[in-house]
Amino acid sequence: MKIVVIQGPNLNMLGVREQHIYGPMKLEEIHAQMKNFAEQNEIEIEFFQSNLEGEIVDRIQECLGDAHGIIINPAAYSHTSIAIRDAIAAVEIPTIEVHLSNIHAREDFRKKSLTAEVCAGVIAGVGPFGYHLAMIGMTQIISEIQAMQEAQAQAEQGQNA
Ligand code: DQA
Repeated sequence: MKIVVIQGPNLNMLGVREQHIYGPMKLEEIHAQMKNFAEQNEIEIEFFQSNLEGEIVDRIQECLGDAHGIIINPAAYSHTSIAIRDAIAAVEIPTIEVHLSNIHAREDFRKKSLTAEVCAGVIAGVGPFGYHLAMIGMTQIISEIQAMQEAQAQAEQGQNA
């Protein structure tokens, strides 16, 4: 099972930027915790951060045929990027969107996420722990898909016998 974690603009500044909203934890620390969880659960994991919309689109496209799941915090692009939304929809890979802050309890322009609408699930407002919850949710989603595919394959084998 392979999960790709994609982090949007300004998340490289976690631990420095607006600590009263995003807390003191650095992105590297969040990723270290996710890596621990992945190792304990035999999950392959890759991390990517970019401040550029096109690079995020490229990274999502690269997941095609490679990753079983995507965990993404598109950050400010959640509220503006049709390109990132279309990329998530195009690859048809289960995707969970994470926001450290509760975007629904902030400015009006943050309340709508264009990207969340094409995701399997959204976790917002529980800080860095949201990424951990996303890992648990994603392993569950992927396991269910794999179990369904195996059952389908078995049923087809039965029909052909
Ligand atoms: C964020 C929320 C966005 O509105 C904001 O632009 C971010 C971070 C969050 O994780 O809470 O950069 O995605």
